[in-house]
Amino acid sequence: MAPIFKNSLLIFGLGVAFCVRAQNITANSTFDAFVPTTVAQMLLSNVFQPTYVPFTTIHSTYLELQSNFESTFVFSQNITLPQTFKHSERMVHYGLALLYSAGFPRNTPGVAQISFAELSRRFYLAAIMHDLGITNNTEALAHPAHAMSFELWGAFMAYDHLHESHPELDAAQVGDVAESIALHTTQYFQGNSSATGWLLQNTAVFDIFGYDVYGPGSFDPFWNTQTVAEIEQAFPRDTFIAEFTADFAKEEALKPNCIFTHSFFDLADAKISTIVPSKTS
Ligand SMILES: *[C@@H]1O[C@H](CO)[C@@H](O)[C@H](O)[C@H]1NC(C)=O
Ligand SMILES: *[C@@H]1O[C@H](CO)[C@@H](O)[C@H](O)[C@H]1NC(C)=O
Ligand SMILES: *[C@@H]1O[C@H](CO)[C@@H](O)[C@H](O)[C@H]1NC(C)=O
Ligand SMILES: *[C@@H]1O[C@H](CO)[C@@H](O)[C@H](O)[C@H]1NC(C)=O
Ligand SMILES: *[C@@H]1O[C@H](CO)[C@@H](O)[C@H](O)[C@H]1NC(C)=O
Repeated sequence: MAPIFKNSLLIFGLGVAFCVRAQNITANSTFDAFVPTTVAQMLLSNVFQPTYVPFTTIHSTYLELQSNFESTFVFSQNITLPQTFKHSERMVHYGLALLYSAGFPRNTPGVAQISFAELSRRFYLAAIMHDLGITNNTEALAHPAHAMSFELWGAFMAYDHLHESHPELDAAQVGDVAESIALHTTQYFQGNSSATGWLLQNTAVFDIFGYDVYGPGSFDPFWNTQTVAEIEQAFPRDTFIAEFTADFAKEEALKPNCIFTHSFFDLADAKISTIVPSKTS
């Protein structure tokens, strides 16, 4: 076991022992706008506590975002395969849970800040549209970007949609959402991601592979198992992995150079029924 993971398990233990409460986050609370890309680096420089955040807290923020971007929700739900769309919805909840619990970098001197209102908005848009390219929708299949890897195809569709439906968003906002979608399956080993991009990649990976992705318990410091169980109950996994794997097999046959074939993640390791560790899973 690498030292970093021992360290994170220790932090996890302390968080539970002190029974830390979720922090009070308002629209004006700020977070670092850029964070270390790798999970190991994130854990080295920040102390995370997997605080329990009630589903109702997260879900009310989710519903607010959904109603603020109703056309995006409808657009994305219509295009994304149904089980995969629920994966996107779970991801929004995981990301919000992480911001409400303690540890996601905030107020680091010298690092640009982003308000909770702005970060949650960008992350919502990125997460809800991140799998637009996992689709059999006729209009999506006819989009000029359809021949590219699903991440890029989806990013172009999201980019077009945001410009058409939300002209109030500027280049930095649309760019952060589109770039985060384009890169969400690409692994880097150094450098920084936008907070949006970090949340998108890691909530996607977490929802597919569970807690042990970067070593045993590597995601333990980020997500409280009770919070996650409540999210999974509200948005059941059902046949998500089968749907996603089948679509990916189609893409791999059609686009042998697709991005996901370079991934170190193996869909054979995906969690089928639940990502919450338990004797029955
Ligand atoms: C959050 O706010 C409540 C009520 O305003 C307060 O009782 C509680 O101590 C605060 N929690 C934290 C972690 O600051
Ligand atoms: C949050 O920020 C906005 C705009 O900067 C300001 O109008 C508002 O009063 C602030 N709210 C709180 C609770 O500080
Ligand atoms: C797309 O796939 C879904 C789920 O796999 C299926 O229910 C639906 O009928 C398909 N739609 C089209 C247009 O092929
Ligand atoms: C859903 O997609 C189909 C196929 O492209 C399209 O005809 C229909 O208008 C879309 N519905 C909504 C609500 O966007
Ligand atoms: C990433 O951001 C940190 C500040 O959080 C900075 O010290 C570091 O130089 C950045 N790394 C790269 C590769 O830009």
